[in-house]
Amino acid sequence: MEYQWEEQFSTGDDAIDRQHKTVFELSNAFLQASGKEQLDLALAKLLDYVRQHFAYEEALMEQMYMVDHQEHILSHIHLIERLETLQGRLSNDSLDRLELSMFLNHWNSIHVPRLDTNLVECLRLCETRRGDLLNS
Ligand SMILES: [Fe+2]
Ligand SMILES: [Fe+2]
Repeated sequence: MEYQWEEQFSTGDDAIDRQHKTVFELSNAFLQASGKEQLDLALAKLLDYVRQHFAYEEALMEQMYMVDHQEHILSHIHLIERLETLQGRLSNDSLDRLELSMFLNHWNSIHVPRLDTNLVECLRLCETRRGDLLNS
């Protein structure tokens, strides 16, 4: 089984979409891993990358002084907790596919279409305003 990134998941921002695609790739690498050592390593890579991606988005929110960023940050914390739960369950060598699919389901059906898309809209608005300022 493989997770596929689809066009409908696009936020319209190339950098963010590229990072989201990498999350899919790392999730698939984790699914294909076998044995405790490989599983641990693949999950650590995924967790590390997701943390970096969230830090990137949160830096953007800060730069734009976004006022309603709290819900987005809480959702990042929730998603990280899901991956940490998964990490805690790896100790017995088994791969918890259900937890990973719940993580990606939440990511695709709630997080990206609502919160990340909202962030990208704010980015666009900021660019427009900056453009207006430069032109005035
Ligand atoms: Fe996000
Ligand atoms: Fe994101």
